Amino acid sequence: MPEMNVILFGATGMVGQGVLRECLLDPGIASVLAVGRSPTGQQHPKLREIVHDNFLDYSAIESELAGFDACFFCLGVSSVGMNEERYRHLTYDITLAAAATLSRLNPGMVFIYVTGRGTDSSEQGPLMWARVKGKTENDLLKLPFKAAYMFRPAGIQPLHGIRSKTAWIHAIYVGAAPLLTLLNRVAPKYMTTTEQVGRAMIKVARDGYRKPVLESEDINAV
Ligand SMILES: NC(=O)c1ccc[n+]([C@@H]2O[C@H](COP(=O)([O-])OP(=O)(O)OC[C@H]3O[C@@H](n4cnc5c(N)ncnc54)[C@H](OP(=O)(O)O)[C@@H]3O)[C@@H](O)[C@H]2O)c1
Repeated sequence: MPEMNVILFGATGMVGQGVLRECLLDPGIASVLAVGRSPTGQQHPKLREIVHDNFLDYSAIESELAGFDACFFCLGVSSVGMNEERYRHLTYDITLAAAATLSRLNPGMVFIYVTGRGTDSSEQGPLMWARVKGKTENDLLKLPFKAAYMFRPAGIQPLHGIRSKTAWIHAIYVGAAPLLTLLNRVAPKYMTTTEQVGRAMIKVARDGYRKPVLESEDINAV
């Protein structure tokens, strides 16, 4: 099995920390390049980092973004308290700017995007966040990657000491940890873990999947 070289966006976030952990542990991942606005604070022989400040323009670092097999795009924000223009900028504009650059530089790349359960593929529904994520998914799927997959988890339980950067999300996950562990076992449609998301991304990047959109139960079954 050939080893994979991976680019990871959002490695400092809750989902990204989980994906990074699994990549560093997986013998099939040769290297991880984390691109973020702040460093992860981690040291590992497989990990290299670029701290970047303009997530709409990658021209200054383009020469470092070629030669990768997969991108795990875990950068993203909650829409709570945000207007549509701001949420669209942070969700659609940033994701598509990175993806357009990466697809041009890495035609053999598999791109995996973390979106969310309830994403609105019609782009017409009543929920602002779901429409924006739907448009983002739809346009990512049009880019000339080798393949693109949309991961739509519902709840994600952070494991192995990982924490959300959003204080209220962290508080919920800590307070409800025993219930979430149970839910993960009995209702995979509604709950996954940072470990399962990371493992599934690696497996889907390596082996592909039978459909481009993976719901929580698909992520847990991969
Ligand atoms: N957490 C969940 O339970 C859950 C469930 C379903 C779907 N999701 C989706 O998963 C994605 C990641 O969520 P998360 O819980 O990991 O979020 P998080 O803990 O808040 O982390 C967000 C990540 O995105 C980066 N980021 C945010 N705004 C940025 C900006 N303007 N420029 C550059 N980087 C920026 C953060 O970097 P800094 O460290 O520099 O701030 C961090 O790495 C989101 O799209 C979310 O909707 C999450």
